[in-house]
Amino acid sequence: MTESSSAFPIVILTGAGISKESGLSTFRDADGIWATVRIEDVATPEAFAADPDRVHAFYNARRRGLTDSTIKPNAAHEALARLEREWPGDVLVVTQNIDDLHERAGNRNLIHMHGELLKARCTRCKNIAFWDMDMSVNTGCPSCGQKGGMRPHVVWFGEMPFMMETIYETLEKCGLFLSIGTSGNVYPAAGFVQAVRGAGTAQTVEINLEPSEGATLFDDGVYGPATEMVPQVVDQILRYTA
Ligand code: APR
Repeated sequence: MTESSSAFPIVILTGAGISKESGLSTFRDADGIWATVRIEDVATPEAFAADPDRVHAFYNARRRGLTDSTIKPNAAHEALARLEREWPGDVLVVTQNIDDLHERAGNRNLIHMHGELLKARCTRCKNIAFWDMDMSVNTGCPSCGQKGGMRPHVVWFGEMPFMMETIYETLEKCGLFLSIGTSGNVYPAAGFVQAVRGAGTAQTVEINLEPSEGATLFDDGVYGPATEMVPQVVDQILRYTA
């Protein structure tokens, strides 16, 4: 592998579809999470204020699901880790997913714009800690010791996603933007492709089971299961450097 002028920065946006074949549910598919529970009951600051037990129960169940020993990164996560290792330029993965499958696969340049299921935040002292247990209104903060202020370190509807400034700066200078396994329903992530197009010359490619809401905004679409399509696309990209 050699440094070359082809080593433009690459930004990859991922959504729930990339983790589906690892055994984690998507949100808006027929068997998705929002088919069984309402967003406004479990994924807003208002829901947490009104019924914290219900919100904790929802995230406790998802956390237990994620820490189940059968849940592992799949071939799509592994291909993106390979891309970060082998591409001579910068590779940034921006994920909407709160699972930890990208880091388990080996990606290090990674932004969890919607937060992380395996972290907890104290709303009193703002401490953020690794968290793989159940949480309740009686859970004490490991830093300040106060009870009643612990919440999942995730971004709810109505809250600002993390690291937006860094994400937009990187989008504006990338040479390739890949969007993988996301329905394109939730902003600001759904608007990233327009930010890339507005900035200039990057190629934009969507990889999804089927064309997403914003499919026509992309230069190219590659449709099929992420575990098959992502390794193929990564192979093609890495051929540029061979
Ligand atoms: N391979 C590729 N794509 C897949 C696969 C698969 N095996 N299975 C499903 N998909 C696609 C679906 O066709 C769908 O377009 O993944 C997409 C998942 O879309 P959503 O369920 O809407 O998930 P996502 O786009 O990540 O949701 C965005 O919404 O509720 C919030 O905070 C939550 O981060 C999430 C955000």
